[in-house]
Amino acid sequence: MQAKTKSDKPLLRVLAGQQQAVPPIWLMRQAGRYLPEYRAVRQEAGSFLNLCYTPAAAAEVTLQPVRRFGMDAAILFSDILVVPHALGQEVGFVEGEGPKLAPARSAADLAGLSVDRVAGHMAPVYETVERVAAALPAGAALIGFAGAPWTVASYMVEGGTSRTFERVRAFALGDEPAFGDLIALLVEATTRYLAAQVDAGAEAVQLFDSWAGVLPERQFGKWVIAPTAEIVRGVRAVHPDVPIIGFPRGAGARYEGYASATGVSALALDETVSLDEAVRLQARRPVQGNLDPVALLLGGAALEDSVSLLVEALAHGPYIFNLGHGINKETPPAHVERLVELVRGGGVRHGG
Ligand code: CP3
Repeated sequence: MQAKTKSDKPLLRVLAGQQQAVPPIWLMRQAGRYLPEYRAVRQEAGSFLNLCYTPAAAAEVTLQPVRRFGMDAAILFSDILVVPHALGQEVGFVEGEGPKLAPARSAADLAGLSVDRVAGHMAPVYETVERVAAALPAGAALIGFAGAPWTVASYMVEGGTSRTFERVRAFALGDEPAFGDLIALLVEATTRYLAAQVDAGAEAVQLFDSWAGVLPERQFGKWVIAPTAEIVRGVRAVHPDVPIIGFPRGAGARYEGYASATGVSALALDETVSLDEAVRLQARRPVQGNLDPVALLLGGAALEDSVSLLVEALAHGPYIFNLGHGINKETPPAHVERLVELVRGGGVRHGG
């Protein structure tokens, strides 16, 4: 039998601009606590970060949703906060509270961070990528990822998750040279990190800018668009053909400008983007998304209707089925199974 080539993978075909009769599907945070088999490996690993840095375990949880649901892609199991960790910031995950970082709020706090540590620190992550690439079923693609600089900087400055982002916005506005240095450091680290994931076997990469939506217009250009454009250029300088999916969550009316100015290959749409807008964006590049994670959590008619509408609107162009944000951890795995069946034709009313 002939080995499958990249062009046989539906997800990579879509990212190259080719529409598929059945849209490929994967889900953001598809490896996670909603899966009992994930919780078992997670418990054995002890801490979340230990799981991220243990290649055999991280590769195992990366593969779990591909095995269970037949997803068209595996996304590397890691976290966006391994980058600040690699730069030298203290990072921890507190059970039930989320990430906690020693906040960096001034030029002095940033002085100790260094991009030179990244290669050594990330060696286990690259080994995870290699292990997954070797074990992946033939038609499934391997997606690497990183957080985009603005979103990663927001965790570094706030010291964790925030509701208002006032501290990071105050830093960006009040000391632009120092904040610009932090963003530049993240651009450099992220470019190297993504390029190395591709070296190790990632076939596409996604940049998560989860908090892109909180920035006012001029700041959006400076801290979302410009650094993303630089990363896209930098990764393409070493890997000219690797598809890059941009996810500027909450960007609303700014999605189009983001796509054209950054040059990303495809857009991941959050669930607030309307179907009409999604179709307009899709006229110029592949789109991915944007099922409401709550519809998947709920299941039943809410799920079936949302899936039909999405597939009817977007399957006539290059389209990757996904959620608009990460899967909710209470989601019954049976709902994910049903979703995959619906997308693959088991009961979706296909429009003409
Ligand atoms: O998509 C995948 O399956 C790959 C793995 C992945 C994780 N985090 C695993 C994870 C990816 C792509 C991420 C990205 C990530 N991490 C983002 C961007 C996407 C988004 O959700 O907006 C952000 C903002 C983070 C930072 C982060 N990591 C937070 C805020 C939390 C805590 C939230 C929570 O639910 O507790 C994490 C922890 C985390 N990352 C978990 C997983 C599976 C849960 C931790 C655990 O198992 O104990």
